[in-house]
Amino acid sequence: MDNAPTRILIAPSLLAADFARLGEESRAVAEAGADWLHMDVMDGHFVPNISFGPLVVKALRRHVSIPMDVHLMIGPVDPYIPAFAEAGADHISVHPESGPHLHRTLQLIRSLGKKSGVVLNPATPVEAITHVLDLVDIIMVMTVNPGFGGQAFIASQLGKIRVLRRMIDETGRDIVLQVDGGVTPQTAGQVCGAGADCLIAGTAIFSAPDYAAAIMALRAG
Ligand code: DX5
Ligand code: ZN
Repeated sequence: MDNAPTRILIAPSLLAADFARLGEESRAVAEAGADWLHMDVMDGHFVPNISFGPLVVKALRRHVSIPMDVHLMIGPVDPYIPAFAEAGADHISVHPESGPHLHRTLQLIRSLGKKSGVVLNPATPVEAITHVLDLVDIIMVMTVNPGFGGQAFIASQLGKIRVLRRMIDETGRDIVLQVDGGVTPQTAGQVCGAGADCLIAGTAIFSAPDYAAAIMALRAG
């Protein structure tokens, strides 16, 4: 695999969209050039906020054909994974802290034919995934504490992104390195410079007047 990805993937986070018009908002970002649709699922227990569940993922499936990138911030996570797979999620990402057996959780996601992701909170070390890399398609680095959109980017995570870039390159596999939280045209350059190849952005896209321009500004960052 090439060390320097040629095209940065952009995954708008629906958390910042108008929840009264989720279908329209999803179509709008897909038409504006989004690569993936990022969907933040929160249970008010694993994180201090509640968003939406598999019924909403299922309802939005017919609105977009781009991959639905589902970020589960729920615990325990395993009992709900089949419902999200059935709802039409293409990627299912979990936090190591959201269940007792990460290896088993990743096996479950793969067994349902979905791409599997692991999400590292700001305080979670890269070692949390060292021994499960063979079961991982996506690694997501949180550059905010999970639970809310619109928070400030935590720059101390750039070192973690660099370490993961090297770790991924050593595998020779096409594992996508995503960054989630506080991504703006101002922070995108640092994030991509550190080796990320997929930017998740909520506020920076959905609060902009022109989604296509906002997506282009992130790619250019
Ligand atoms: C936070 C979510 C993020 C969030 C990003 O728990 O995982 O996806 O929506 O929002 P912004 O881009 O506004 O930081
Ligand atoms: Zn997210």
